[in-house]
Amino acid sequence: MNEDKTVQRKIEHIDLCINSEVEYSKSAGFEKYEFKHNAVTSISYEKLDLSRLFLDKKIDFPFIISSMTGGANESLNINKKLAEVAACLNIPIGAGSQRHVLESNTYDESFSVLRKIAPNVPIFSNLGISEVISLYNSNQLNITNKLVELLESDAFYIHLNTAQELFQVEGNKDFSNLLESIAELVNTIKIPVFIKEVGNGIDYNAAKQLLELGVKGIDVAGSGGTNWQLIEMKRSGIINEEFLEWGLPTTYCVKEVNKLKTEYDFFIIASGGIKSGIDIAKSFALGADFAASANIILKSIINSGVDLTVKNIKDWFDDVKRVMFLTNANRIEDLRNDKLIKIGELY
Ligand SMILES: Cc1cc2nc3c(=O)[nH]c(=O)nc-3n(C[C@H](O)[C@H](O)[C@H](O)COP(=O)(O)O)c2cc1C
Repeated sequence: MNEDKTVQRKIEHIDLCINSEVEYSKSAGFEKYEFKHNAVTSISYEKLDLSRLFLDKKIDFPFIISSMTGGANESLNINKKLAEVAACLNIPIGAGSQRHVLESNTYDESFSVLRKIAPNVPIFSNLGISEVISLYNSNQLNITNKLVELLESDAFYIHLNTAQELFQVEGNKDFSNLLESIAELVNTIKIPVFIKEVGNGIDYNAAKQLLELGVKGIDVAGSGGTNWQLIEMKRSGIINEEFLEWGLPTTYCVKEVNKLKTEYDFFIIASGGIKSGIDIAKSFALGADFAASANIILKSIINSGVDLTVKNIKDWFDDVKRVMFLTNANRIEDLRNDKLIKIGELY
C-alpha cells in the first residue's frame, strides 16, 4: 500500500514537472550580476580544461545531473537516458529518492540501471530526510547500506524538503531529530554524505550546522527553478498564495554558504533554476565547485532526446570557457577572483 502511494506520487511529480508550469515567479538571481570584461586577458582558449577529480574519479565537467527518478515504470526509461547523458559527458549523476528500495525490490532495476549504463561516473544515492528520521527513530539506519550497494554509489545525498512536505497533503510534518538522524547516518555509511534541498535553499546557519555533523557537500538547491510547494499545491488543488514564492534564491545561498569555506573542507553545489552556461559560470564566481540542474534536463531528454541534451550541456560549458577566456580565468577557481559585478554598481 505504502509502496503504491510512493510510486503513484513519483508518477504525478514527473507528469507535473514535464507538462505543467511549476517554476518560481522569482528568479534565482543570476541576472543581478555581470562579468567584468577583461581587455587584457592572457588566456589560451584551446588550453582551457574543465576536467577534475571528484570522489576519486576523473570527470570531464563540473556539473551534476540532479537527483530525480527511480521507482516507477517510467523511471526505468528516464534513468536509462539520464545515465546515457552522464556516461557520454563523463559527469556525476544523482539517483532519485531510493525510498522505493526500502519498501520493495520491484523497481530496483530502475536505479541499478544508472550504474549499468554509467559504470565510471560518480553516482549519488538519495533519501529524503523524513525517511532518514524514521529509520533513525526505529534504529534501522543500517539498511541504507543496501541503497549504496544497489548503485555502488560514491556519495549519499539526503534531501531536505520541509516546505514540500508541509504542503503535501500526505506529507510528514514532524522533523524532530533531524540533525541527530543526519549525524547518525554520517557515522553509519562509509561514503561521504552530501545534503541537498529541493528548491527552498540552504543558508549560512543551516549549512554550518550540517557541516558540524561531518557532511562533505552542500547542494544549495535554491529558489528560482522548480517550485516543490507549488507542485504539491497543484496535486492537492489547494493553493496558498502566501507561500508560493517561499525560499532563498540560489545566488544568495551560494554566496552565503561560500563564507564557510574558510572553516570547513566541503563541496558547494549550485542548483535551483540553473539554465545556461552563464548561470553556471556565475555560480562558480560566487563560490560553487559544481553546478547542477534537474527539470530542464528531464524536459530535454523527453522532448529532444539524449544526443541533443548532451550537445546542450556541452554548449553550456563552451560558454563557461568563453567567460573564462574573457575574464582572464585559467581555472574554474580563478572565476572566484573578483570577476563579477552587481548590476547596480555598473550604472
Ligand atoms: C521530476 C523531478 C523529481 C525529483 N525528485 C527528487 C528526488 O527524488 N530526490 C531529490 O533529492 N530531489 C528531487 N528533485 C529535486 C531536484 O533534484 C532539484 O533539487 C530541484 O528540482 C531544483 O532544481 P531545478 O530547478 O534545476 O529543477 C526532483 C526534481 C524533479 C524535476
